[in-house]
Amino acid sequence: MLEVYELLIVIVSLIGLWIYQWRNPKTNGKLPPGSMGFPIIGETLEFMKPHDVLQFPTFVKERVLRYGPVFRTSLFGGKAIISMDVELNVEIAKASHVPGITKSIARLFGKNNLFIQSKESHKHVRNLTFQLLGPQGLKLRMVQDVDHLARTYMEEGARNGFLDVKETSSKILIECLAKKVMGEMEPEAAKELTLCWRYFPRDWFQFSWNIPGTGVYQMVKARKRMMKLIKETVLKKRASGEEFGEFFKIIFGEMEGKAESMSVENAIEYIYTFFLIANETTPGILAAIVKLISEHPKVMQELQREHDGIVRGKTDKEASLTWEDYKSMTFTMMVINESLRITSTAPTVLRITEHEFKVGDYTIPAGWIFMGYPSVHFNPEKYDDPLAFNPWRWKREELGSILSKTYIPFGAGSRLCLGAEFAKLQMAIFIHHLFRYRWSMKTETTVLRRFMLMFPSGSDVQFSQDTKVENSS
Ligand code: HEM
Repeated sequence: MLEVYELLIVIVSLIGLWIYQWRNPKTNGKLPPGSMGFPIIGETLEFMKPHDVLQFPTFVKERVLRYGPVFRTSLFGGKAIISMDVELNVEIAKASHVPGITKSIARLFGKNNLFIQSKESHKHVRNLTFQLLGPQGLKLRMVQDVDHLARTYMEEGARNGFLDVKETSSKILIECLAKKVMGEMEPEAAKELTLCWRYFPRDWFQFSWNIPGTGVYQMVKARKRMMKLIKETVLKKRASGEEFGEFFKIIFGEMEGKAESMSVENAIEYIYTFFLIANETTPGILAAIVKLISEHPKVMQELQREHDGIVRGKTDKEASLTWEDYKSMTFTMMVINESLRITSTAPTVLRITEHEFKVGDYTIPAGWIFMGYPSVHFNPEKYDDPLAFNPWRWKREELGSILSKTYIPFGAGSRLCLGAEFAKLQMAIFIHHLFRYRWSMKTETTVLRRFMLMFPSGSDVQFSQDTKVENSS
């Protein structure tokens, strides 16, 4: 029989072995330097400390100084490699296909999600999405809808004297996508769908424990609610023979007699993922852009000039924006590109390594989370005075490009963002309508990052009394 003290020794030894193995993961070569932190939580708490959006997190900066541009850590219960090496980021973006998401996020997307499943299904949904959100789709379908929604919400904001940029952008995005996806919805269902995002926890990017009271628990609940709503709408439409939105027509193979189709369940998970990604990116970035603009009077002036010119060029000053108007917003595009460059202080390449990668003497094992930061955006050899917000630096650059060797805000490789063009269009049209009014943003507005963007004092703009800008001269 084991004595109590012997049992204790066994338990302590096992825990010691477990901690040793945690800190020294198995590998076929030499792991990149770094620390795995505490068992299970790893270094997550330090990684998730909020930081100024225009700075890389202290967590990353300190470790780059200590270990170099590629280091190992443990985040959200998984083994992770963080890289500031642009060549490596692009290599892994091209060679690895599996998205680098933690269990909590995978659960959010749904286990049958076509974005996450096989290479083939992923390729298929990318093709379908491109039909709607590629330049042709935007030109044909999106400008007018986004224009109408942005105009309506801006008028409402001006009447109220203020408007929350992030929230408004989220409403525009969801309403616009919902219409494209599902067609006309019953007003109650449309309202409920928009409201669902309100129940969505702001801190969903975290551990995967689904325990009541945690963000993940709320998130899973919000997801179920949205999925149910989308499903009910789809089934009702199917039963009544009512017309679907263009997106569903594309998905169900009803466009131009194409045979490709998808099950209702898969389509719903797909749409849901899509809404989620769209809503978690554009509204926050747009609010950060408006904040940057409000702090730079010369940029304000130049934008005012550009947008006054567009309104002045129209016989009917209230006429909708056209694709040509959008394409003429050159300075606005320079502002958007510059803002995306300077606020890219989070990883833009997120993958699970599918096989081993060699970096110098080190080996990155297969199956690890890979987080590639776009440090090239802050390289003084590529961008003069990189910490300065200077939209004019884009004068000589290709403005339409969403990816180049020195510009990767939308990721790279097989998972390059599908909504990049749509996001730019939405942001440009929002800025256009904002500049039809006199507005300001409170100086105390702050933009922080805790992986996702945060606005602790909100993201309101105020409209002044004589708010409408006259463009008749
Ligand atoms: C300023 C706004 C946005 C930014 C900065 C952004 C950024 C990104 C990044 C960095 C990735 C992935 C990268 C990777 O691991 O390589 C991505 C993927 C994706 N984005 Fe965006 N995004 C934005 C807006 C949108 C919008 C509005 C939509 C949809 C309407 C969208 C849809 C997607 C989808 C579906 C993927 C996954 C693609 C795939 O797995 O094949 N994004 N985005």
